[in-house]
Amino acid sequence: MNTEHIVRTFVEYFQERGHRHLAGSSLLPLPGDPVLFTTSGMHPLTPYLEGRPHPLGRRLVNVQRCLRTTDLDEVGDDTHLTVFEMLGTWSLGDYEGPRSLGWGHNLLVNGFGIDPGLLHATVFGGDEHSGPDTGSLRTWEELGVPVELTTDENWWSNGPTGPCGPDSEIFMWTGDTPPRSTPTGDDRWVEVWNHVMLRYRRHDDGSLDLLPRPNVDTGLGLERLSAILQGRKSVFETDLFEPWMRSVPPLWPLDQRQLRLVCDHLRSSAVVIGEGVLPSNTGRGYVLRRLVRRVLTTLWRDDPSRTLADLPEELIQHTLDHFGLPGRTGRIRDVLLDEERRFTQLLQRGRRVLSQPRFSAPLTEEDYTYLHDTHGLPRELVRGLRTGTPG
Ligand code: ALA
Repeated sequence: MNTEHIVRTFVEYFQERGHRHLAGSSLLPLPGDPVLFTTSGMHPLTPYLEGRPHPLGRRLVNVQRCLRTTDLDEVGDDTHLTVFEMLGTWSLGDYEGPRSLGWGHNLLVNGFGIDPGLLHATVFGGDEHSGPDTGSLRTWEELGVPVELTTDENWWSNGPTGPCGPDSEIFMWTGDTPPRSTPTGDDRWVEVWNHVMLRYRRHDDGSLDLLPRPNVDTGLGLERLSAILQGRKSVFETDLFEPWMRSVPPLWPLDQRQLRLVCDHLRSSAVVIGEGVLPSNTGRGYVLRRLVRRVLTTLWRDDPSRTLADLPEELIQHTLDHFGLPGRTGRIRDVLLDEERRFTQLLQRGRRVLSQPRFSAPLTEEDYTYLHDTHGLPRELVRGLRTGTPG
């Protein structure tokens, strides 16, 4: 089942159950939102989850592109990506959690053909603020799915304040031998689908109150689902990454982790630039700058002559087409090459300055300030040059 087919199956399944298909929003939240990038499917829907009526009604389904910088260091494993897509469904004060879980289970087993014996659920077991999620617990018992109760791991929020609530996560076993542990004890249990009973709002002082209507917010990582349904061990082996994993290795021989990082970061950079962001030293531009510089540092570790000028346009085009972005591949290449040039110059300057005898001893705070203010060398870059890992 290719990814396009998976998306269609998901959306149609929920449309048949009264959900309206909502177009995915930009990766860039609306002005005034303190968050740099959209981090989950519910993010653009926050006002509606807080009670405002949605023009499309109370049952919604969509595919939302997201970017999470919290996962940057995990990129390179089997499941984490910087830019990823989330299949999502919402009940805005309509049906409750048990119905959502039942539909979710039915779609995974009967729609996507997942062996129900490979599933495990986790459920919020209660804490000092909120009781256990008995509705979810009962639903999983009725469906014959084993359950693990946790506290912190089954409480979801999109930030320190705003809508939040207990969640129930569906995991699938991906090990070669039968599991000996529950989801929190073995990472071969891969989280597939999160259902959040979004019925609280957290205030600045940490207190919780009930939202005007209880919502259900669910999110399913598309790339992980594709990997599972295509029988692949990692998201990088799915059809979404096929052109990247075919074209990059002959160009730049890299080990597996480096290859995944380079493909993820370049693909993510193409999307971010396609959304109109340019590299800079603050905010979104800084996230983009870090992505590109991590790629360059990785490429240059073994061969400093490698250049993004060799990146095939086909890969950028494939990414823009997939995300429905109108950007031109030439512009994205120009931005990447401009950033490569700037980084090259900065590194040359940094190496020249740091080779002066006065910097041979461990650096003081005064040195860092001088290097930054006089030579434009940021602290992390200086540290990286000293340890051989700039970027
Ligand atoms: N908003 C929930 C999540 O991102 C579904 O996991």
